[in-house]
Amino acid sequence: MDEKLKELKQRRDRIMAGGGPKRVEAQHAKGKMTARERIETLLDEGSFTEVDAFVEHRAVDLGMDKTEAPGEGVVIGYGTVAGRMITVFAQDFTVVGGSLGEMHAAKICKAMDLAMKIGCPCIGINDSGGARIQEGVDALSGYGDIFYRNTLASGVIPQISVIMGPCAGGAVYSPALTDFTIMVDKSANMFITGPQVIKAVTREDVTAEALGGALVHSQISGVASLMFNSEQETLAGIRKLLSYLPQNNVEDPPVAKTSDDIHRNLPKVAALIPDQPNKPYDIRDVISQVFDDGDYFEIQPLYAQNIVTCFARLGGKPVGIIANQPKIMAGVLDINASDKASRFIRFCDAFNIPLVTFTDTAGYLPGVGQEHAGVIRHGAKLLYAYSEASVPKLTVIVRKAYGGAYIAMCSRHLGADQVFAWPSAEIAVMGPDGAANIIFKKEIDEAADADAMRKQKIDEYKHNFANPYKAAVRGYVDDVIDPADTRSRLAAALNMLAGKREARPAKKHGNLPV
Ligand code: HXC
Repeated sequence: MDEKLKELKQRRDRIMAGGGPKRVEAQHAKGKMTARERIETLLDEGSFTEVDAFVEHRAVDLGMDKTEAPGEGVVIGYGTVAGRMITVFAQDFTVVGGSLGEMHAAKICKAMDLAMKIGCPCIGINDSGGARIQEGVDALSGYGDIFYRNTLASGVIPQISVIMGPCAGGAVYSPALTDFTIMVDKSANMFITGPQVIKAVTREDVTAEALGGALVHSQISGVASLMFNSEQETLAGIRKLLSYLPQNNVEDPPVAKTSDDIHRNLPKVAALIPDQPNKPYDIRDVISQVFDDGDYFEIQPLYAQNIVTCFARLGGKPVGIIANQPKIMAGVLDINASDKASRFIRFCDAFNIPLVTFTDTAGYLPGVGQEHAGVIRHGAKLLYAYSEASVPKLTVIVRKAYGGAYIAMCSRHLGADQVFAWPSAEIAVMGPDGAANIIFKKEIDEAADADAMRKQKIDEYKHNFANPYKAAVRGYVDDVIDPADTRSRLAAALNMLAGKREARPAKKHGNLPV
């Protein structure tokens, strides 16, 4: 037995060394951890159990018969984060560039299958040169197997992709199919075709960073949900993200301990809203006053900043918040904001996370560019996502709620369970200036002093219509509340809705306007 144990140790040591000291050193020199170091940092200390360490490739072409690939270039297994089970895979760039062959893909699929079997999140750490060229169609089939599983697992278990190096070609589509894609600044890249191919085809000169770096995908493309400055910060960010999420779609999200009183009054919140309806303010200041301990966790903070999407807690219970951001482009709804909010709403709905919406927007962004780029199709996603969501839905109309934006921002008509309005709310078909110019056009044109008449009509409209009471009279708004009571009223509504069950017509699936 001793001999056998010795052999086991020798074999395991060889695998644990990955691509060997030189390649590990090169990985460290780039400021990157190895696959196992990343897993150890992400998981609770000592909780990781590796699976499939002995798996080997069976490729023979193009020199692969002589190529050793310890662990097949990917480490998989299970362990805990804050005491809760997850499965994980981490590609090992020190082994054949973390490239994905048949058996490498089979290991990733095993981590995903285990997560589906037990109902827990699956975290994938990507650092790879893509399809292992020597394995040809076997590598491609491996990607297909992963995409298929990503899709089946969508809405069943949370899937988080972490990009900590290259992620090129078709490899990018697995992260894109998961719930969150998190990138490390300056070391992660994602693109379908790299700089050299682009140069050859379109003659465009671009660096990998400018093409598909973390900042580009966080600010411009919206591919990244989050970016962090270092691998350590990224892994800590994932632990925080997981703290808001249930293990799967049949569990409720975890309740955290808090000493923040749910009846806490908010004496300063009303003063955040400027008296003039066109003056900007930061809706995040409202959010931090309302929710537990002033804490919230933004998703896509750099993309479509005219809408804020974040997780926070109320009485310890996680909620998903969608809020127009008057500080950026007056909080208008546009294509990118609709995409961002819709995806967030659908995630929360799939995982039993109640939605809280803060409304302050003049409406959808006008413009030829928006219309031609399909604001009708993309804007419709928001209507669809809110209507489809059956989790508790609470809405607070803070200031402007005009036209389509009133409806789109989780109005009663899209199934909001409770709608509160602050006294500063303006709920109408359109803003006072536009409305007065249309309905009082004749009076204004015929007046001796057209400007004075316009002002008078605008003031009249503001007084009579730009308020929350017309909507409250109809019951579209359940109550007009003192902003200071917002926290306690939301908490009471959430408590009331804890047992909400809302059936939907039986169907295979809906047809979201994509
Ligand atoms: C096989 C690969 C590989 C790959 C890297 N390696 N990518 N081996 N297949 N796809 C190997 C290298 O030969 C090298 O081996 C080792 O990994 C480290 O790579 P380097 O090039 O030395 O590292 P670096 O300079 O850091 O460059 C990393 C890189 C580059 C930018 C990722 O390797 C690269 O461009 N690789 C190819 C990327 C790509 O085009 N992949 C295919 C995408 S298409 P040695 O032994 O010399 O150390 C695709 C289709 C999927 O993925 C479709 C699914 C639907």
